[in-house]
Amino acid sequence: MATRGISILKGIEAQEVIGLLNKAYCDEWLAYYQYFIESKVIKGIMKDAAIAELTQHAADELRHATMVADRILQLGGTPALSPAEWMANSNCGYEAPEDPDVKAILKQSIAGEQCAISVYSSLADLTREKDIVTYDIVSQILADEVEHEEDLQALYDDIEEFVEQIRATLE
Ligand SMILES: [Fe+2]
Ligand SMILES: [Fe+2]
Repeated sequence: MATRGISILKGIEAQEVIGLLNKAYCDEWLAYYQYFIESKVIKGIMKDAAIAELTQHAADELRHATMVADRILQLGGTPALSPAEWMANSNCGYEAPEDPDVKAILKQSIAGEQCAISVYSSLADLTREKDIVTYDIVSQILADEVEHEEDLQALYDDIEEFVEQIRATLE
């Protein structure tokens, strides 16, 4: 534990930041697995484009887990040691992709990103003036989650439009 690095926190306890980061850490692992398994089971129209997006997101969520774990360790904490903690301690939970349809999966994933945006936005608000290193990390992750939501929504809209065009040519 690096004491000087922790001493620069202003008006917030390292324990509080560690607790919140650990919840976000659990979210990232669940998000990673959700994207991983979605990319395997997905079916339907334009699924190749969706698989490319889901696979990229899975890699990003795993990278986020690394960033958050490293910060927890810097602050003297211990990242969740057991997968059992992921569900118990997450903010956003986990939605199994029971319906493998492309649109259903994209909708679930968009909801997950919206939850992640809320989590990192409040972490950024909380740390902005008090823990600038965490603030910098959560801001980077927040920008990725905003991009994720946009990518998924754009793909969802493309699929809807494509389906509409097909329908129109059949009439
Ligand atoms: Fe993430
Ligand atoms: Fe994400």
